[in-house]
Amino acid sequence: MTELIRDLIDTSWQAVEQRCEIIGGRRVTRPGFEALTQSRHESRFADDLAVLAHLDAALDLARDYELGHLAAGLSGVRDRIRWSQNPRYDETTVSRELLDGYAYAGLSGPDSPIRCDVPLCGYLIMGPGITYPDHRHAPPEIYLVMTPGSQWCLDSGEWFDVAPGDLIFHDSWQKHATRTSHQPLLAFVAWLERGDRTRIDI
Ligand SMILES: [Fe+2]
Repeated sequence: MTELIRDLIDTSWQAVEQRCEIIGGRRVTRPGFEALTQSRHESRFADDLAVLAHLDAALDLARDYELGHLAAGLSGVRDRIRWSQNPRYDETTVSRELLDGYAYAGLSGPDSPIRCDVPLCGYLIMGPGITYPDHRHAPPEIYLVMTPGSQWCLDSGEWFDVAPGDLIFHDSWQKHATRTSHQPLLAFVAWLERGDRTRIDI
């Protein structure tokens, strides 16, 4: 069962490492595996997250672009992963729009199918017309974008377009935000160092 998950993790990191030149010459390599030191639950799992109504469309969309093989891999483990949200996100900390508009499925991490402290990685989906507002966290992070039509914002600067195959890097505590237009966003996301998802400033 975990073999397909491991295959998808390997394939996803290969795609990241092939794109290291895109982020200003900074080389991104797959972090070494660090075993879990203590059991931690950083995700609020749910099968009925509203955004999952867009999952089929997001996978179909991603298949038409250069990272379509990752979409196929994700489809292949659909019944072996669990979608979740950050347990710190509720109506007092984020908008209802965001709660209805995003979900994360961890592949490796403290409460993911491959249990470890490092690397924490998985897939993120956002529905159409959603803004994931400025937030930041200690671990450096990468996003590998699989679908067209979304925009990014770094350090509260200008929004810029991103395209399938783009690799985006967020440095430690760097502010970042993401928004979608009329299409959903699907992306591979990973933290490059040990971290705690419940300690995200948003
Ligand atoms: Fe982030």
